[in-house]
Amino acid sequence: MATSLNNSTFSNINTNILVKMLQTKEKFVSGALLAADIGVSRVSIHSHLEQLRKEGFAIEAIRNRGYRVTKLPITIQKDLLNAYLKILKIQTPVIHLREMDSTQNEAERQISNSTTLPFVVITGKQTAGRGRHGRSWYSKDSGNLYASFAFRPNFSPKTILTITPWLAVNLCHLLNEEFDIPAQVKWPNDLILRGKKISGMLAESRIDMDHTRDLIFGIGLNINGNPETWPKELQSIATSMTYEMGKSFNINQIAAAIIKTIFHAYHEFSENTFLDKFNTFWKKYDSLYDQFITGYHGTLLIKGTAKGISEAGKLKLLQEGGTLRLMEVGEVSLSQPVTQI
Ligand code: BTN
Repeated sequence: MATSLNNSTFSNINTNILVKMLQTKEKFVSGALLAADIGVSRVSIHSHLEQLRKEGFAIEAIRNRGYRVTKLPITIQKDLLNAYLKILKIQTPVIHLREMDSTQNEAERQISNSTTLPFVVITGKQTAGRGRHGRSWYSKDSGNLYASFAFRPNFSPKTILTITPWLAVNLCHLLNEEFDIPAQVKWPNDLILRGKKISGMLAESRIDMDHTRDLIFGIGLNINGNPETWPKELQSIATSMTYEMGKSFNINQIAAAIIKTIFHAYHEFSENTFLDKFNTFWKKYDSLYDQFITGYHGTLLIKGTAKGISEAGKLKLLQEGGTLRLMEVGEVSLSQPVTQI
C-alpha cells in the first residue's frame, strides 16, 4: 500500500525538525529550541535525529550550539519532501512509496478507490515505468524523479493536447530560473539538456463523450541519476542534470517546487489565462526553432523547418513551397533537408 506523506506522527515530527533546520538562518538549532517548538522532549528530538541520520542525512551536533544539517539525501525522502512542501505551503495530498510499478498506475488505482482529486503520486523507483507511444520508461535509478499528478479537469478532451506542452514549458522555466539548468523544450513535451533528454511527460485521461473525467499527468525527470549505469541505448539519447552540471541537486526541494509549479500552471490553464505566457516561454526555450526536422503524422513522413507552436500546442512546420503545416501528435527529430512531403 502506498502511504500518504502526512499520515504518521513520527514522520510529522521529522518533518517539523527539518522545517525548523532548513529555515534557521544561523543554521545551528538547539535541541531545547527544537523540543519547545515541536512540543516533544529533547530525548525524543535526539531519537528523531538518529532516525534521520539512518535515512541519509548528515547532522552535525556541537555542544552549546545545537544541530545543523550538513548533507541531504540525493533521493526522494518523504520527511524532507514534506518539509519543503510545508515551507511552500502546499496542502495537496502527496502519496509516496519507495517503489511501485508506475506512478501512473498508482494514480489510476487511487482514482478507482475514490481518492479525492487532485493529488500527487511520487516514488523513488518504478518497476514498470511507462513512456509515450506504449514505450517503457527506465526507472531503476532512484536519483531521478517519477511523479504523477491526478486532476479532475473542467476542459474538453481536445485541450489535453495543449496542456502537456504548457506544463512542460513551465517545468523548463522553473529549472532555468530557480535551479540554473539551461534546459530547453522539444515539442511536444520533452526537456532537453545539452542535446539529450532529461525529462519526458505522459498525459493520460479517461473521456466520456466530450467530457474529460480525469487527467493523469506523469513526469520523469533525471536529476541525480548516473547515466553510466543506464542501458547503453539510453546513454546516447538521455542524460541527467547532475551528469551535465557536475554537481548533485536537492531532489526533494526540486520535487516540491515542481508540484507547486504544476498546480499553478494547471490553474492558469483552467482559467484560460495562460496564452501570453505560453508563447513567451515557448519562444524562449524552444530547442527546435528554425531547425530542419523529420516527423511522422500517423504513417506519413513529414519534413520541414520548425517554426514554434500554435496556441493549441501544435507544431508549426514550414514545408517546401512555403506551406505552413500544423502537426498535432507525433514525434520529431532533427534531420538533413532533403525532399519534403
Ligand atoms: C516519454 O515517453 O517521454 C514520457 C515518459 C513519462 C515517464 C513518467 S515517470 C512518472 C510517470 N509514471 C510512468 O509510468 N510514466 C510517467
